[in-house]
Formats: sequence, structure tokens, C-alpha cells
Amino acid sequence: MGRRGGSEPPGTAIDPGDDGADSSAPAPYNSGMSANTVGGRPDAPQSPPPRTLLGGLAPASFLQRHWHKEPRLVRGAVPGFAGLATRAELRALAERDDVESRLVVRDGARWSLAWGPFRRADWKALPARDWTLLVQGVNLHLPAADRLLRRFSFVPWARLDDLMVSDAAPGGGVGPHFDSYDVFLLQGNGRRRWRWGRQDDLALRPGLPVKILRRFQPSADTVLGPGDMLYLPPQYAHDGVAVDDCTTWSIGFRAPAATELAQAFLDHLRDTVELPGRYADPDLKPTTAPARVDVAMQRRVTTMLEAIRWRREDVARFLGAWLSEPKPSVFFTPPEPPLARAAFARRAAAKGVALDARTQMLFDDANLFVNGETLRWPEGDRTGLERLANDRALSAGVAAGLSAASLALLHDWYRDGWLHPASA
Ligand code: SIN
Ligand code: CO
Repeated sequence: MGRRGGSEPPGTAIDPGDDGADSSAPAPYNSGMSANTVGGRPDAPQSPPPRTLLGGLAPASFLQRHWHKEPRLVRGAVPGFAGLATRAELRALAERDDVESRLVVRDGARWSLAWGPFRRADWKALPARDWTLLVQGVNLHLPAADRLLRRFSFVPWARLDDLMVSDAAPGGGVGPHFDSYDVFLLQGNGRRRWRWGRQDDLALRPGLPVKILRRFQPSADTVLGPGDMLYLPPQYAHDGVAVDDCTTWSIGFRAPAATELAQAFLDHLRDTVELPGRYADPDLKPTTAPARVDVAMQRRVTTMLEAIRWRREDVARFLGAWLSEPKPSVFFTPPEPPLARAAFARRAAAKGVALDARTQMLFDDANLFVNGETLRWPEGDRTGLERLANDRALSAGVAAGLSAASLALLHDWYRDGWLHPASA
């Protein structure tokens, strides 16, 4: 699976804004619990983002004008934002084996790439400048990072990949490259110079461990400071170089290649395909070339395989399961010891429940998809479970009203570590 930041192949205007999505005053960013509260309202995932986020554009206008089409530079997208983790905290994540991380070091024209998990000694060996540490899936481990990412809930989570953080020393970067992602590059602490441009020539420099464009012809060049954000569509060439020690918080939405989708669908079909009958050749004639695969046999097998059919419902089941599949590095921690079902139900009714940050829950009209599993909607409880999927949590009141079938489902997920009774 692809990764942004150049480790695999993969006319911007500063618009003062014209059609604010809501009238709430921009709130200074705060990584604590209150970060989810804007103007005193709970900032539920599906509520409109603060109007600063897209530079005054309502999500609909942003999507129409920029999404998958044109970059957008927003000064002060998240006022007061200066990153959500220290260098030491990011390094601690990069030392874990359930966190994907990379270290890119440039020495003149030479580039080196190392994959985590790293050890403490690796940090001591770093030069004073020209390196960057990329930590993937920070939203899975840092609640404040998950809340930051959920500000982009106007884009369906079916397109969401993760929040990646790069922590760079001055001069650090991954070189000019392109990604197969729609990406929001939000500047944390420090400054980073970004250059970018639409570019037809996507040829790469050969023989490098990082994917660097052979020719890079940027059409824009600017320095982003804390809270500034640059949106880039997929395949847009870009290069970010740290001016100071700095972090960039990048929220990425994957645009899978058609071949990748097809391969994944064929995997799914292989598991589900059932064709009637078996090969039959009652009219077989003697052969003088027993090694030859006969045209008649090829025709028969072609006809058999033409019986493989799929409908939109099959694609829907594949898609939801595939999109909700956790990355290979993800592990859940089951509760030890788990509450029995009745005690779990009492706790849920008293406190509510919340999905684990690593849980991926999606749905469509017919199915519910959780961490790669497909389920039919349980009888009668669609509203509560839809709410759990969209809000990623249920209040005590809603949890108290769930049917026994839904509670049994949630209890199973709880025992797998996919969901937790809320603690407050
Ligand atoms: C990117 O260009 O995809 C992100 C790299 C970075 O933040 O350094
Ligand atoms: Co990139």
C-alpha cells in the first residue's frame, strides 16, 4: 500500500474567503479536551469545521473548487496550532513496533532512507541538519491528533488514510516528489518552505531510496508557519524543506490506483466465488499430441469462467470490508479481564461508549463494516449504530436505548478491544 512523503511512486491563490460555513469565531487551537469545542458547541465530527480551516470556504465550495483539482493555501487555518507532540514524544512513537516510521537523511546529493522501529541510539547518530522523521498513523496513538483529523470529517472516511507527522531539522525534507493522496499539510511548530506545481513529467531520479522527481518545476513557493495549511491534490509535485526545526501534520486521503482496487476485488472474489458444475468432456477424441492444450478445452474453460458475475451489492461488500481493514501494523488490546455482558451493558448505559482510535467503522445501506468484517444491520437499531460510526462514540442515553442484539455486538467488539466504555 502506498505511502505519501516520497518513499514510493506514487496557480494557488490565498483566498480571503467568501462563504463561511458557519459564524462561530475561530477558536485558538488547544490540544486538550476542549479542542473539540468551538464556541461552546460540541464539535461533533459531522458538524461543519471552523470557517478558518478552509480559509473561509464552506466545505461544499472547497470540494467544488479545490478537491482533487487545485491546491489551496490557507494562512491561519488552525489558529494557535503549534503541533500536538514534542520531538521526544514523536521519537517514542517511532521506537514502537506497532507504529510505522521512516527517517530520511540528505547528505548533499545523497539520500538515505531507514524504516523504524528506531532505537534511542539512532537519534544520537543524527547530524545537526538535513533529516526528517516521518511517523505514520499518529491519530491512532494520540487522542488530540485523532480529534484534529476528525475536523476533516466533511470528507468521507472511506477516503481517509491517516495523519502523518514529519519532524524535521533545518534543511530536512523528503525531496521533490508526488503522492497518490489528497493531502492537507498543516504546519505545526517552526516553519517549512513549500514549493509546488502541477507537473506532467513525473519521471523519477533513478537509483535513490526515496522517490525524487528528476525535474521539478514548481509554480508556487512560500513559507508556512504554525497553523498555516496547504492542500494538494494527488500527483501534484511538491517539496517541503524545513526552515527551522519544525513539524508538519499531514492528513492524507488515499486515491487508490484502479489496479490496486482490482487486485483487492479479485482477492475478495476468490474467497467468495462459487460456480456450479465441473469440467466435462464426454466428446473427447484420441490425440496424437498429448502435450497440447486443446482449443476445445480453452473454449470450455472460457465459458465456465464467463459465469463469474458480480453485482453492485458484491462490490459494496468488498469495498466496505476492504476500506475498513486496519493496516497490518495495527493491534488491538483486549480488556483484561473483560466485563461480562450485563456489567458491560450497565457501564455503557451509565457512561456511554467510544470506538477505539484504531477501529474503522463504516456503513452503507445494507451493511455495517468494522475492522474488515461485514455485518448486516441488526434488527431495529440502525440509528444508534449509525451514530456510533459517524460520531465514533455514543452518549450514555443512546447506549441505554440500544437493543439486546446491538449490545451483544458492542460487547463482542469491546472484548476484542475495538470499543471501550467511556471513562467519563
Ligand atoms: C509530504 O510531502 O508528503 C510530507 C512530507 C513532510 O511532511 O515532510
Ligand atoms: Co508528499
